[in-house]
Amino acid sequence: MRKFIVQLLVAALSQQASAHYVFNRLIINNTASQEFQYVRDVSSNTGDYSSLWLKTFPIYGPENENVTCGRSAFPVHNAATIETATIPAGSEVGFMLSGPTYEGDTQPYIFHEGPGQVFLSKLPAGMKSLNEYDGSGDFFKIDYAGPSDNHTWSTMDKTEVNFTIPAATPSGKYLLRIEQFYPSSSHHQSQWFVNCAHVEIVGRGSGSPGPMVRFPNAYSEDDPSIWFHDDLGRFPDNLDSYVEPKPNVWKG
Ligand SMILES: *[C@@H]1O[C@H](CO)[C@@H](O)[C@H](O)[C@H]1NC(C)=O
Ligand SMILES: *[C@@H]1O[C@H](CO)[C@@H](O)[C@H](O)[C@H]1NC(C)=O
Ligand SMILES: *[C@@H]1O[C@H](CO)[C@@H](O)[C@H](O)[C@H]1NC(C)=O
Ligand SMILES: *[C@@H]1O[C@H](CO)[C@@H](O)[C@H](O)[C@H]1NC(C)=O
Repeated sequence: MRKFIVQLLVAALSQQASAHYVFNRLIINNTASQEFQYVRDVSSNTGDYSSLWLKTFPIYGPENENVTCGRSAFPVHNAATIETATIPAGSEVGFMLSGPTYEGDTQPYIFHEGPGQVFLSKLPAGMKSLNEYDGSGDFFKIDYAGPSDNHTWSTMDKTEVNFTIPAATPSGKYLLRIEQFYPSSSHHQSQWFVNCAHVEIVGRGSGSPGPMVRFPNAYSEDDPSIWFHDDLGRFPDNLDSYVEPKPNVWKG
């Protein structure tokens, strides 16, 4: 009986541990927007869009098609209600997360060790609306949040990731994509938390963004930046040796 209870407890804990967080609120002009106001809706593992809890489950591996903009993010499920956020180039914005809370915490936060990165992809010529765009085109990187010291990830325990849209970004409509990933896990596969917002960047930016990558398959699971762990799924205190994933940040 005791063994059975322990098994139930382990099952409950592992189920809890498999729900995480979703970056579904854009922060603009120092204000967090509503959930999925500017961010593409995502689904559970079975394609269900009704439960926030089930949306937070991780995507496994950088080669999964769902790492482009989150699970079942295209066709855009909230196409009728999603808004496009106007952002002046050069301004600071962010992504705030939602998800379940644990053990008396009052708000969800990033609790998986790993870097955060932010990308932009311009709406391809010939398309009028971001709702038409599946995200299969070119992305350039505008932010990298890596380790802050030998044993701390700068994103850890945060409720949001903030960054600046480079002032030289050419005006136009873009997918604004965030990824935060856990390089190691008990599943022996990296875990990915990815979302995309619809934005229109305004200003007089005339830079030439690059280098470009495409998702999925911008990385492979065995890149040293993705597969960085020890066999216990714990990080040794050696984050100084962590190498930022390619591509380089475009600073404008
Ligand atoms: C991100 O920006 C928001 C709004 O300006 C601010 O309240 C929050 O403290 C910032 N978060 C971090 C981690 O810097
Ligand atoms: C993407 O997510 C959907 C919904 O869970 C699933 O049906 C599909 O198989 C996923 N794609 C991959 C490559 O896992
Ligand atoms: C943010 O502020 C800028 C400048 O005042 C404004 O043009 C823009 O519409 C605002 N964006 C949002 C989403 O509130
Ligand atoms: C970081 O940790 C590793 C492994 O413990 C150690 O060898 C290295 O000297 C540390 N680096 C610094 C700057 O302390």
